[in-house]
Amino acid sequence: MHPMLNIAVKAARRAGNLIHRSTDKIDHLTITKKSHADFVSEVDRAAEQTIMETLLEAYPDHAILAEESGVHGESEYVWIIDPLDGTTNFLHGIPQFAVSIALQHKGIITQAVIYDPTKNELYTATRGRGAFLNDKRLRVTRRIHLSESLIGTGFPYTRFEHMDAYIGIFKDLMQKTSGLRRPGSAALDLAWVAAGRYDGFFETGLKAWDIAAGTLMITEAGGMVSDLAGEDRFLKTGHICAGNPNIHPQLLQIIAPHLTPALKG
Ligand code: IPD
Ligand code: CA
Ligand code: CA
Repeated sequence: MHPMLNIAVKAARRAGNLIHRSTDKIDHLTITKKSHADFVSEVDRAAEQTIMETLLEAYPDHAILAEESGVHGESEYVWIIDPLDGTTNFLHGIPQFAVSIALQHKGIITQAVIYDPTKNELYTATRGRGAFLNDKRLRVTRRIHLSESLIGTGFPYTRFEHMDAYIGIFKDLMQKTSGLRRPGSAALDLAWVAAGRYDGFFETGLKAWDIAAGTLMITEAGGMVSDLAGEDRFLKTGHICAGNPNIHPQLLQIIAPHLTPALKG
């Protein structure tokens, strides 16, 4: 395993174990509202602290972009961290959340870890060396027809400027796929595309920390990732479409008539 990935795995496991231990005391946690329907708990912050300490102990000169505490330092190496992706699930006792850590080197994501502590599932990827779930090499599905595909997504719930376009896409896909799912953790949604559980995924308005690790996971598993217009600006815009190489273009085709100038990025 690449030494930088090894450190990221150590950080993700530490944070994941901390989150997992906290599931017994959800009712006693201090919870703050960041904006409409957007909550953060002391567990999110403690997990982020643990991750940062682990990474910076090994690589004190690296920079950090972390959801709860923002930007730290400046370097050609930037760790992009979501300490707890799926906070709403976590706060409701729903066991679908994960730790997501990616390393960006000179603007390119090179290492990725997503850890699901409830299922003890560790997803890892290194650019050019494949993606793995625990020790198993990952491949996206080979499904050809959209009508037989299962597609993951995330509903808008904090900001609603793309609501009408989203509902339009959703309505079309409801009728043209085998099913849609909204489990509530974008990082795991993307890992599940890589793992061949979903054939595709789309969502609007995500942040870099939600998707940085998952997108490398998908491309290393043989899948495709783009923004909703088929371009590669997804890390900046947060509008994302992913899938196996057959399903990804079919999703883009369904999405195209619903695109607004803002969604084109
Ligand atoms: C959220 C989850 C969710 C997605 C939201 C994200 P958080 O992350 O990934 O699936 O729909 O847009 O903000 O806030 O739980 O880290
Ligand atoms: Ca997140
Ligand atoms: Ca989070």
